[in-house]
Amino acid sequence: MDQLEVLVVGNGGREHAIVLGLSESHSVSTLHCTPGNAGTIDLAMNHNVSASDIEGIVSLSKELDVSMVVVGPESPLVDGLSDRLRREGIPCFGPNSEGAMLEGSKLHAKKIMEQLGIPTAKFKIIRNQSSINESLDEFNPPWVIKRDVLAGGKGVTVTSSRKEAHNVLKDGIELDKFVLLEEYLEGEEASILVIMDESGYVMLPPSQDHKRAFDGDIGPNTGGMGAYAPAPVASPSVIARTREEIVEPMHHHLRNSSTPYRGCLYVGLMINQDGSPKVVEFNVRLGDPEAQVTIPLIRSDFGEALMATALGKLETVEVDFSDKHASTVVLASEGYPGEVISGRYVSGWDTKIEEGEVLGLCHIAGAVTSDDGRLISTGGRVLSATGVAPSLAEALEASYQIIEGVQLEGSHYRKDIGSGGL
Ligand code: AMP
Ligand code: GLY
Repeated sequence: MDQLEVLVVGNGGREHAIVLGLSESHSVSTLHCTPGNAGTIDLAMNHNVSASDIEGIVSLSKELDVSMVVVGPESPLVDGLSDRLRREGIPCFGPNSEGAMLEGSKLHAKKIMEQLGIPTAKFKIIRNQSSINESLDEFNPPWVIKRDVLAGGKGVTVTSSRKEAHNVLKDGIELDKFVLLEEYLEGEEASILVIMDESGYVMLPPSQDHKRAFDGDIGPNTGGMGAYAPAPVASPSVIARTREEIVEPMHHHLRNSSTPYRGCLYVGLMINQDGSPKVVEFNVRLGDPEAQVTIPLIRSDFGEALMATALGKLETVEVDFSDKHASTVVLASEGYPGEVISGRYVSGWDTKIEEGEVLGLCHIAGAVTSDDGRLISTGGRVLSATGVAPSLAEALEASYQIIEGVQLEGSHYRKDIGSGGL
């Protein structure tokens, strides 16, 4: 394949992982990132265009004459970045706005799943305050309430308090005119990232995120506090059922839609005790922090796979995986996931582990380099310490060795990442 020049859009840990994966690809010669962060700057040229500035990104891509744009976050996809790039003839990894509605609207995703017979939680649309009580009676607690908006994982409430459920439904109706009330699914969650285009799809190794803020899965929901892969809860039989009952029908549906889906379909699963997978959510991008533990397990050329997908030719490339394990532990700012205190110096983040088959490093997320060259926190999830090793235990040991060496006043991280996989 040609020497690719790639622009990556976004500034999180996921984008650092994408840039790192591309930097190790023989097919890629030049890397750009916009706006990027203090991690991507070591491997790519960072640019000053925000991920939400669609026209700015289109102009930058033309100016740089890149071979492909890889879009990290969902918002620009929902807002039509891929549509605009494709109209200019620039290949893009990331679905266009029609495909991105699978994440942009939970109701839209539910309707598609209903139409295709894909297993997911039962749901009801609540439009009138007068029907709240009757609707709460139809579902057993805990109640799951979802706003139909892009809310970065924060539009979902799971509660056993009828009073809280009532209030959240009432507020949701006032804000958005309607809310979804969903059946509560018991089980363990797993994420399966599926790279797909109209020619085919590849399921990446399953991972497990830890969404709650504190050890033991307690506290508020976050964007994700750490992850590991492969996740044994997604056993070979769960993966086979996911392929047959979820991925195949979705691929068939998307390949026949008017604009083909070229990117990553993130399948968020709840797996019950019998090993039956149900869809909790679809996202239209790589997960964060799932990308940090999944990309390092791809052994074949990552750039080639993304480029082939952007061109609708995924079927023509071979994608294979190492048999290693990866883990990542998120370091969050004081206050996260509530009001965050940022603007603090971070030190000890640049330690790397390279001991035989064990690797460790920090994926930078919400942090930038200040004028004096030091790292300074800018967001909730500041970085995640990633380990890759022949076993999960060794990967976790590397992650924790690295994160214990990082200093950031007031920060916190979970001590039990990966415990479900050990
Ligand atoms: P979502 O944004 O739809 O992924 O929801 C955020 C989180 O809420 C999920 O990762 C689950 O932990 C939880 N959740 C969402 N829907 C359900 C459900 N139907 N049953 C149980 N937990 C759920
Ligand atoms: N880690 C969850 C997400 O990326 O949506």
